[in-house]
Amino acid sequence: MIVGVVGAGTMGAGIAQACLQSGHEVLLHDVDEAAIERGRSAVAEGLARLVAKGRVSADDLTALLGDLRDAHSLADVTAEAELVMEAALEDLGLKQTIFRALDSAAARDVPLATNTSALSVTEIAASAERYPGRVLGLHFFNPAPVMPLVEVVAAETTDAAALDAGRVFAEGLGKTAVVCRDSPGFIVNRVNRPFTLEALRMVEAGEATVEEIDHAVEAAGYPMGPFRLMDLVGIDINYAVAQALYRAFEEEERFRPSVVQEQMVAAGRLGRKSRGGFYDYADPGGRSSAAALGGSPADPAMDRRELPASDPSLAIEAAEIVSRIELAIINEAYHAAGENVATPPDIDRALKLGANHPRGPFERARELGLRSVIDDLRRLEERHGRRFRVAPALWQVATV
Ligand SMILES: NC(=O)c1ccc[n+]([C@@H]2O[C@H](COP(=O)([O-])OP(=O)(O)OC[C@H]3O[C@@H](n4cnc5c(N)ncnc54)[C@H](O)[C@@H]3O)[C@@H](O)[C@H]2O)c1
Repeated sequence: MIVGVVGAGTMGAGIAQACLQSGHEVLLHDVDEAAIERGRSAVAEGLARLVAKGRVSADDLTALLGDLRDAHSLADVTAEAELVMEAALEDLGLKQTIFRALDSAAARDVPLATNTSALSVTEIAASAERYPGRVLGLHFFNPAPVMPLVEVVAAETTDAAALDAGRVFAEGLGKTAVVCRDSPGFIVNRVNRPFTLEALRMVEAGEATVEEIDHAVEAAGYPMGPFRLMDLVGIDINYAVAQALYRAFEEEERFRPSVVQEQMVAAGRLGRKSRGGFYDYADPGGRSSAAALGGSPADPAMDRRELPASDPSLAIEAAEIVSRIELAIINEAYHAAGENVATPPDIDRALKLGANHPRGPFERARELGLRSVIDDLRRLEERHGRRFRVAPALWQVATV
């Protein structure tokens, strides 16, 4: 298949590489010609790593790179592409302009997919005036060639043929495709929000330190604690998604972004990429370079020692740290399932493959027992407020 990729940044290049590895030809477009060049280099480096690991032969590398072609305009993309993946900047107006142009020029049966993280796919689709039914979301995770999940997002207007084509395309890339309804944060960015938010609230309240929380969560089987994860993803990116969800959920208390995160972003402490986030890093790329203090912080004006200190009278145990985060995620999973965002098995799959959780929230709820989940959430609501209010769908399943 010939796949058009619009936007050659982190995600566009990653998606292009995944397509090439699965035997597709790729037309790579970006408004910035230098970005196409950088995207091409990123693809070449990604494929070269596979050669080094013995997973791709040197001859195949040359052939795969031959299947990557530059597209200097959207017209170059629509002239040939049989499916278009948009991965340009996260800006509604910009994406609408792109989809208006794609829809006016592409043949009728070409599905048009957006990789948006937090915008409404339905609003993007509305700009495709001729055939809005062919617009869907295909939400890849970073790094796209490696992460095994794609959320296949059905906008209100998406037709069954486009949704199916998107699912088949994602599965053809070797991914697990989970279908979900167009709603803020889709599955993973929404249901997993408490993984970072609840951890931030514990630090804000002086109940535990960054290290204590990361240590407790990692000891419970999660590959990376919430603060190490935010440093890796970028604190600014995580904060932007948190803000978008808070707005989309009309300032619902459980999505309120953290002031700690706001202060970190304002101080330029963005994580690994700025050499300083919740931890300091000597080298932004090096995995082994995480040095607790002693690196070269992004902004010496904000030392990480300015993070709220934990208050011994409020300190909570490792078990409670993990339990509070997991209960908040379980509750959010019931909110999402109750609103028909996706089925419980798909939500479990998405959290395991898109967020590397050792088990899905519904699986965890069954292990704990629904009655005890509800009792614990009610206790937490008494102590910490309405963000722990039991989801209506959880009451329902527990009372039948
Ligand atoms: N980075 C992630 O972890 C991640 C994960 C999932 C989804 N996403 C989403 O994927 C999209 C791209 O994110 P990214 O991290 O790759 O961003 P990025 O900043 O790395 O790349 C965006 C690219 O889009 C290009 N661009 C801007 N306007 C354009 C236009 N009119 N036409 C074509 N190209 C244009 C820019 O020049 C840039 O090269 C966003 O919608 C983002 O929310 C990102």
